[in-house]
Amino acid sequence: MATTDGAPRLIAVDPVTPDPGVIAEAAGILRQGGLVAFPTETVYGLGADALDAAAVGRIFAAKGRPAFNPVIVHVADAEAARALVSAWPASAQALAERFWPGPVTMVLPKADVVPSIVTAGLDAVAIRVPAHPVALALLEAFRGPIAAPSANRSGLLSPTAAHHVAAALGDRVDLVLDAGPTDVGIESTVVDLTGPLPRILRPGLVGLAEISAVVGDMEERVAPGTGDADDAPRASPGLLDRHYAPRARLVVLPDEDAVREAARHGAHRGERVGLLLRQPVDLDALSAEAVMLPDQPAGYARGLYAALHELDARGCEVIFVAEVPNTPAWAGIRDRLRRAAQ
Ligand code: TXA
Ligand code: MG
Repeated sequence: MATTDGAPRLIAVDPVTPDPGVIAEAAGILRQGGLVAFPTETVYGLGADALDAAAVGRIFAAKGRPAFNPVIVHVADAEAARALVSAWPASAQALAERFWPGPVTMVLPKADVVPSIVTAGLDAVAIRVPAHPVALALLEAFRGPIAAPSANRSGLLSPTAAHHVAAALGDRVDLVLDAGPTDVGIESTVVDLTGPLPRILRPGLVGLAEISAVVGDMEERVAPGTGDADDAPRASPGLLDRHYAPRARLVVLPDEDAVREAARHGAHRGERVGLLLRQPVDLDALSAEAVMLPDQPAGYARGLYAALHELDARGCEVIFVAEVPNTPAWAGIRDRLRRAAQ
């Protein structure tokens, strides 16, 4: 396994009909215990053979991920998911039928075949079927479950493009399949089905109302723990306080007037200021770096991480962004902005 910090091998693949030869090679790397970064519809994942504890250990090493934070397992279909769990409640069947392939991850009691490193010692495993032709082709060729957290260094921004993966992980990853930017842009909704009522552990583009329409009554979302990174496992250990963060300090303000005002003050102090905007402004008057995002949730989510990566790359020390609407459609985005700003 490569250990230096050179560039990874990156191969361009067609996002709809990937070259079977390239996919076969990627599957071969997984079979040998290597790491392959691949696109999903949400973000790029850092994949390893989910049933090979040593290979999954390499994911943790490459990401600098704390051992208490379990990883998501990707499978080709619901049947493959059932082989990894010790219980498959009606709610799981219903969610799979409605949302798979798609950006919904289910947490279910794990079967013995799943190595404990995958679940960080927990009794439950997180599973999803990704809705991306490249991810599905890789699962098909590999013929087994692929453990894949987001392909970034732990705690930093998730990658929505192959060059984000390359910049973050270098040749800690054996191969990157580059199929262009991802579509959803924020990570999947994580639903815990191990308790008396289903509950959302991590909001995403598929919201509580859509999940609840399928499974019925749900628990209110439990706030994540607020301790050290060394804490005992928590309900969703990935939900650390600061997460999904750019290098720059991110500050969320009530509206875009406040953003403009803060930009003026920041520039006055000599700070290199970045702005994430939904409304056009006169940038010359502000002397700030800015990225515009669409004023609707799907487009905003799709562009959010790329915008933050971009402002980081431009050397911004501080990024100002206006709060997004407090409505269900924006909930996943509000969650990521809040975490990134801590
Ligand atoms: O969209 C996504 O979900 C992306 C793509 C690559 O599929 N994956 C992703 O994985 O975001 P990761 O590992 O970065 O985030 C997994 C989340 C974390 O919050 C983790 O704590 C939680 O799911 N999780 C994983 N296994 C779990 C388990 N057994 N019990 C509870 N939470 C779990
Ligand atoms: Mg992640």
